[in-house]
Amino acid sequence: MENLILCHPRASSGQDPNQAIIVKCEVPQTIPNDHVLLEVDRFGFSTNNMTYQALGEALHFRYFEFHHAPEAEGASSKTHGVTPVWGFGTIIKSTHPKVHTGERVYGYFAPARYLLLSVSPDVNKYAFFVPRPHLPPDRRPYNQITRCAADPLYDPSPTAEDLTMLYRPLFWTSFWCEDWLNSSNYKGGSTHILISSASSKTAFCLAYLIRRRNSLQGSPTRRVIGLTSTKNLAFTKSLGLYDHTFDYVSFDTSLGNLPRGHWIYVDVAGNDALNARVRDHFRACGDSELATCIALGLTNISASTIEPSSASWGSDSDVSQGIDPKLEHFFMPEWLSIRKQQLSVSAIAQMQKEAWTMLMSDCGTWSVTLRRIYGPDQVKAAYEEIVRRGLVPEDAFVWSLWGETREYGLKVKL
Ligand SMILES: NC(=O)c1ccc[n+]([C@@H]2O[C@H](COP(=O)([O-])OP(=O)(O)OC[C@H]3O[C@@H](n4cnc5c(N)ncnc54)[C@H](OP(=O)(O)O)[C@@H]3O)[C@@H](O)[C@H]2O)c1
Repeated sequence: MENLILCHPRASSGQDPNQAIIVKCEVPQTIPNDHVLLEVDRFGFSTNNMTYQALGEALHFRYFEFHHAPEAEGASSKTHGVTPVWGFGTIIKSTHPKVHTGERVYGYFAPARYLLLSVSPDVNKYAFFVPRPHLPPDRRPYNQITRCAADPLYDPSPTAEDLTMLYRPLFWTSFWCEDWLNSSNYKGGSTHILISSASSKTAFCLAYLIRRRNSLQGSPTRRVIGLTSTKNLAFTKSLGLYDHTFDYVSFDTSLGNLPRGHWIYVDVAGNDALNARVRDHFRACGDSELATCIALGLTNISASTIEPSSASWGSDSDVSQGIDPKLEHFFMPEWLSIRKQQLSVSAIAQMQKEAWTMLMSDCGTWSVTLRRIYGPDQVKAAYEEIVRRGLVPEDAFVWSLWGETREYGLKVKL
């Protein structure tokens, strides 16, 4: 059997990291004990994946260490990386006694046709885990493979699977970030939440969840303000999720025209120059209106980055003198482990189910179009288009390295 894997040159190899290649290699004939062989049906692709690629070699993130590039056709794990993707697949062979051939699964896969994964002993009804002892323990959520048959959020219809691949990796970050903000009463009662890269799904899902909280709490005074690029301004406004939306060119003046209050800045862009302007705006307000700056994303990072910049907020001495608030990194697994001590498993499951059901019913009203791209040449061309034009927020990509004629979606009974 022939496998195909989408790979990217490592920036450290001196090659252009944007020159994606599709590598052909053999699927192993013999499956070692306690392994599964998956057919990766299809996967979502968004800026989130471009960020994984850009940080593939960065020491703190190491996204290229989840799946290894094959040694074939001039590629190797020294010269190439595999960018992880969130997708659905079916187990076609299993040598683990508790995981079965034919199971539908969702997880952090390689963009490939087939994927061989090791299975650790802690298999339960809901999930199994890929052992990755070379990575820090906090990466466990990425090692989890969800067994669809027992997943309360799973809906086998092809469109529901597509929406799951697109929103699930981002929505839970937004959801738990909002929960974390709410747990501090929005950092002591902040009234304005400013979000950069407002057209990204992570940002607008956060805006959506803040609005939801407002209506649950009957608190219409908490305003959500989005910052975006000029070309994405119309799209961002059309979502109807922000109280105000400004472009990066002229936001300084527009912010100054809003009523005074206490602000939180959630940075999804990770752009140093933009952050310096936001910081200067709040410094000029003079009465420390900014309660905190939260780093959530890095949409502006480039594929040739080896380490992200550490200069995206005020210097340590400005923070210690109280001139700027300190930059906080929101890391979902950390907050979730705190919430797991405070809430029962069933309470968390219920919160997630309610939020997910609401998202699935509301997301159809947003002007985001599913773009299904099937086949290796087509996927490579779509990737090259993203490199040329950037990601357009209206496009929600579902990709597969199988061809057009394949019957996608669940083929076995759950
Ligand atoms: N902290 C976490 O655990 C976590 C979890 C999930 C996602 N994230 C991060 O959230 C960010 C958003 O991901 P997403 O998948 O939601 O994004 P998305 O929906 O694909 O967002 C597309 C938007 O990103 C911006 N963008 C895309 N390419 C760009 C480029 N080359 N240069 C500058 N801006 C670009 C543009 O927004 P604007 O024009 O509005 O700037 C564009 O409309 C990513 O950096 C992702 O890694 C973090």
